[in-house]
Amino acid sequence: MAKPDRHFMNVFSAVLGILIAISLVLIGISRFADSGPKGARDTSDPLMQAQAHERIKPFGQVAVAGEDNAGLAIEAPARAVPAGGPGAPAASAAAKPMDPKMIYDTACMACHGMGIAGAPKTGDRGAWNPRIAAGTATLYKHAIEGFQGSVGFMPAKGGRADLSDDAVKAAVDYMIAQVK
Ligand code: HEC
Repeated sequence: MAKPDRHFMNVFSAVLGILIAISLVLIGISRFADSGPKGARDTSDPLMQAQAHERIKPFGQVAVAGEDNAGLAIEAPARAVPAGGPGAPAASAAAKPMDPKMIYDTACMACHGMGIAGAPKTGDRGAWNPRIAAGTATLYKHAIEGFQGSVGFMPAKGGRADLSDDAVKAAVDYMIAQVK
């Protein structure tokens, strides 16, 4: 063989050897990674099957006349904020006590959290003290009925007509508590 050819063969063999070595290492690693607990993918395991069925079951179900549709009973979703509006079952409102912070977070924080549109910022004593001085009754009234102040417009119940008066009062109390 001519000298350049021999040189080529040497380099070529070396590269080939390195590649073979790498693939052997990868085979070893994959074997090692594969050695999980015995039966980890035992597809005949009823528990495995049940879990798989649960994961791949259809997204929606259709009620069919004449069939057993018991599993399709509509349940009212759990509400974070109890609605006191007309038609709201009083029992569920009573069953789930109002969490003032939750009401505040969902209905009031959007404006009062950062002081958007002139809203007195929660926790800002300078903004709240003169308002609190006007009396809690006024604050309740303004929060429930809405009010146009000198700095901005406070929508009735923060725009959440579904909130009960008591829920709004609780949120006002919560905001007052943040500056005490
Ligand atoms: C769309 C924005 C917005 C949302 C949402 C909002 N507010 Fe306000 N709120 C304002 C603004 C603006 C003011 C200040 C009005 C002014 O004094 O000019 C204000 C003022 C108030 C005041 C002071 C009233 C007074 O007499 O000084 C209270 C209390 C209040 N909001 C309670 C609430 C409560 C409780 C919620 C949630 C249920 C809420 N706000 C949601 C914008 C908002």
